[in-house]
Amino acid sequence: MFAGRRIVLGVTGGIAAYKAVEVCRRLVDAGAHVSPIMTKGASHFIGETTLSALASEPVQTSLWDEASPIPHTRLGQGADLIVVAPATARLLSDYAAGRSSDLLMATLLATRAPVVVCPAMHTEMWEHPAVQDNLATLRARGVHIVEPESGRLAGGDLGHGRLADPASIVAAAAAALTLPDLAGLRVLVTAGGTREPIDPVRFIGNRSSGKQGTAIARAALRRGADVTLITTAPVPALPGLEVVSVATAAELRTAVHDRAPSSDVVVMAAAVADFRPVSVAVDKIKKAGGVPEIRLEPTEDILAELGAAKVPGQTLVGFAAETTDVAANAQDKLARKGADLLVANDVGAPATGFEHDTNAVTIFSAAGVVDSVELASKDLVADRVLDSVVSHRLVSSGSLNPQFPTK
Ligand code: CTP
Repeated sequence: MFAGRRIVLGVTGGIAAYKAVEVCRRLVDAGAHVSPIMTKGASHFIGETTLSALASEPVQTSLWDEASPIPHTRLGQGADLIVVAPATARLLSDYAAGRSSDLLMATLLATRAPVVVCPAMHTEMWEHPAVQDNLATLRARGVHIVEPESGRLAGGDLGHGRLADPASIVAAAAAALTLPDLAGLRVLVTAGGTREPIDPVRFIGNRSSGKQGTAIARAALRRGADVTLITTAPVPALPGLEVVSVATAAELRTAVHDRAPSSDVVVMAAAVADFRPVSVAVDKIKKAGGVPEIRLEPTEDILAELGAAKVPGQTLVGFAAETTDVAANAQDKLARKGADLLVANDVGAPATGFEHDTNAVTIFSAAGVVDSVELASKDLVADRVLDSVVSHRLVSSGSLNPQFPTK
């Protein structure tokens, strides 16, 4: 996994900086080439010599002390992965704002490699809305955040904010360091809930935030695919990601049918309305006119349409948002809609499904359960869905015997 991979390890100024030494050692032991960067603050907590002695090359601390005038581009472009451990509140703020304040920040801005950020700070700082907003911004851009733990903090306080242990950080680094196993594939993903207008100000909608579909698009991009995301939700720009914004089920359907025939993988993560008003009032419906009767008609089932006219070699992935009998409903849906894989989530369970940053899913194929992911970040769920896509493609192309486990 790590052999020969180039990892930039950023260390910022927090008491947990001493744990970065252990992270560095583990990565080097696993075969990675580790280039350490320390911020000014970090050198108040650990000595450069310690990290230089363990890493694959000497620590760098400044944009200005290398022979090359552009160390950040050398480090950023050459990295397969960047890990920042510990990450202070300042680092999160600078990174969210895109502020190139030092060598580490310049390197983070000069990379297209996956980034793992491991925050550590006092509980009050961790819980501050500004810090949480910065984390949300970074997560939305696809940065992997390794949550801090609870325990003893600097000064003897007890609380949440302690840096995750080095083993968890190395595991997160391994998860983020995925191979480009979707290179050369065109992946089409839909995300978000459609809105069916009633009049110029009202619509029938649903609670889908688009987070899971967006995470799948980001993960597919990271794994080397050409990705188009058709979405009802706003998405921060990502280099290489084609975003098509839609609102209604009809718009989503047109956008999907335009692109699906040339896609190798279609992931229908969008929560598409099943019904829409037969007609949309031109003007706002006024209260004075009494309670309106809104007649509904069914929308077309896009996934079923794609399943009925299956493009040879294409992998079709559906989602099932269920509140009861999740497995039975999911399997029925898979068969009914002609999908190859169906990702079922219990949207009634705590911290799963709509609006949350976490999810828990079971992935089905016609043969039964292919994977089951317990409560995890939507980014991790995204990678597991794509792992199942890769396995399914290998099995259906005859490259893998389905009797052998793929993980
Ligand atoms: N879907 C679709 N077009 C629709 C409705 C749903 O393509 N008009 C897709 C969704 O994107 C998802 C899958 O079908 O991948 C299942 O959606 P879900 O809402 O769970 O299922 P329904 O078809 O609405 O079935 P039910 O009402 O029985 O839950």
